[in-house]
Amino acid sequence: MSLFDLARGTLFRMDAESAHAATIQMMRRLPRMSARLMRADAALPRECMGLHFRNPVGVAAGLDKNGECINALAAMGFGFIEVGTVTPRPQDGNPRPRMFRLPEHEAVINRLGFNNKGVEYLCRQVEHARRDCVLGINIGKNATTPNERAADDYLHCLQRVYALADYVTINISSPNTKNLRDLQQGDALATLLQALSMKRDQLAVEHGRRVPLAVKLAPDMSAEQIQASAAIIADTELDAVIATNTTLSREGVAGHRYADENGGLSGKPLQNLSQRCFEQLRSALPEEIPMIGVGGIHDRESARQRFAAGAQLVQVYTGFVYHGPDLIESATQGAHDAALAETA
Ligand SMILES: Cc1cc2nc3c(=O)[nH]c(=O)nc-3n(C[C@H](O)[C@H](O)[C@H](O)COP(=O)(O)O)c2cc1C
Repeated sequence: MSLFDLARGTLFRMDAESAHAATIQMMRRLPRMSARLMRADAALPRECMGLHFRNPVGVAAGLDKNGECINALAAMGFGFIEVGTVTPRPQDGNPRPRMFRLPEHEAVINRLGFNNKGVEYLCRQVEHARRDCVLGINIGKNATTPNERAADDYLHCLQRVYALADYVTINISSPNTKNLRDLQQGDALATLLQALSMKRDQLAVEHGRRVPLAVKLAPDMSAEQIQASAAIIADTELDAVIATNTTLSREGVAGHRYADENGGLSGKPLQNLSQRCFEQLRSALPEEIPMIGVGGIHDRESARQRFAAGAQLVQVYTGFVYHGPDLIESATQGAHDAALAETA
């Protein structure tokens, strides 16, 4: 029995959010040696967004919202870590309970609502981290900031994290902040991305380093919405698209005792929807914009499918909750499989 299996036995007896909090505390205190005991040795170097990745499997945003476990996650063998979503000011998020495990489906439903300790706290954590992999910082807006002033929050976070991030993700796809997903379309999207792109160009001159900007999208968009948003993204010179966030759909979990809880569904039941959305976005976007696949990746085959559809990198969250660090290795094997099939 692995160290992860032992820990999971205890953690799964707690409610989902307490288990998550305990995991964060454990990882914060975990000496690098112990994290290395869980290490998945997955080497498959990749270049993406002008950055070097030791393997193409990363931690998705939301697992380490405050950047408190960077050392442990890096020691476990991830190729990259995306911390956040972080907002300018600390906020509590929605009332509890707000996170539910559906083990029968290897799924989670959450409506956390960007609970985080604010961008200043996250920056202090990142400054003290000893990481040896790529670090992305995922930024959002405070719940009390109206959409008309959303750009101010994103610009504030971008400026603050710029010197510390290898790349920055603009998260406009969480279902748990009211109206946030409206920013994914039309003028709201164009205005926000243009403002951030201009700010990045200015910061690139100041810092002598151009930090790539990625945007993260939801799987609940129609084919027409995907086409329209892809055109705007291509126009604003973004460096990558991350697809997808959690879904509002309950396909695959109907009848479960938590199926009617509000929030975003993640994990295995999200796999097909996320794959479909990824494929539509891939064909709508210019080839030179790389894509990062996330959503329901839980084994070698689900990873292979995402790489075969054109993902340069993938991220995992819920699959990691259920399968632990071994998933880093199996997902990397999925990348190998897809690359082999392409050259065959
Ligand atoms: C509990 C929880 C919290 C999350 N928080 C965030 C977040 O703060 N920002 C974000 O961009 N995505 C967040 N996500 C979404 C994940 O990053 C990921 O896009 C989604 O869960 C699909 O991947 P998965 O099926 O591997 O979990 C969260 C997901 C979960 C389960």
